[in-house]
Amino acid sequence: MTSETGAHPRIRSYVLRAGRVGSGQARALAELGPRFVLPYQPDRLDLDAVFGRTAPRFLEIGFGMGEGLAEIAAAHPGNDYLGVEVHTPGVGALLKQIGERGLTNVRVIQHDAVEVLTSMLGPASLAGVHIFFPDPWHKKRHHKRRLIQPPLVALLAGRIRPGGYIHLATDWQDYAEQMLAVLSAEPSLQNTVADYAPRPDTRPLTKFEQRGIRLGHGVWDLLFRRI
Ligand SMILES: C[S@@+](CC[C@H](N)C(=O)[O-])C[C@H]1O[C@@H](n2cnc3c(N)ncnc32)[C@H](O)[C@@H]1O
Repeated sequence: MTSETGAHPRIRSYVLRAGRVGSGQARALAELGPRFVLPYQPDRLDLDAVFGRTAPRFLEIGFGMGEGLAEIAAAHPGNDYLGVEVHTPGVGALLKQIGERGLTNVRVIQHDAVEVLTSMLGPASLAGVHIFFPDPWHKKRHHKRRLIQPPLVALLAGRIRPGGYIHLATDWQDYAEQMLAVLSAEPSLQNTVADYAPRPDTRPLTKFEQRGIRLGHGVWDLLFRRI
């Protein structure tokens, strides 16, 4: 299929679901959204102005309900965190956490992360990128929707400053293998270990993962440094 301009529409890594927004999430969206949610814009963001300071900046793509991001941000008040997620209940849930924990070092963009990376973030603007359990798109014919592909990884690597890192995690072995192949092939990234890394402390253990571990499922972490 081609768009009206004749260009191929980009295949997206998500399908927007009409998820139910709970009352606490709706309240957080209304009350905290204006302060913590940044509208998508097709130009560069001035991150120092947004956060009101200069600090190491970390991007989390697809934060889901945001528990992990909120926990990481609370544990590292000296860092700033930008969370990008398309799903409204997740944005509401993270805002609720921001309110409950009194976080000031988190901002949220509700938009496709690929476009945010392309337009809003400048080269070498990030100290690190977290992508935890991206949608695995199990069926082979859907693999083209997977987020971790060479063009996105090259884009990500260019947004990370030398010495910064990219941390991925998945519970799907076949996707882990694809991640390892794609990251290893990106010349500006270097693996910090041979193959898969032990879970770094910077990634909180989720309930979903604890359940998986009890059931004997695997989890693969990948930790690459930008050179
Ligand atoms: C399987 S969930 C994992 C959520 C969370 N990281 C966790 O570990 O529980 C993947 C999330 O990525 C989001 N997502 C997928 N593609 C995205 C994109 N291109 N931009 C922003 N968010 C995206 C989805 O909406 C979904 O909430």
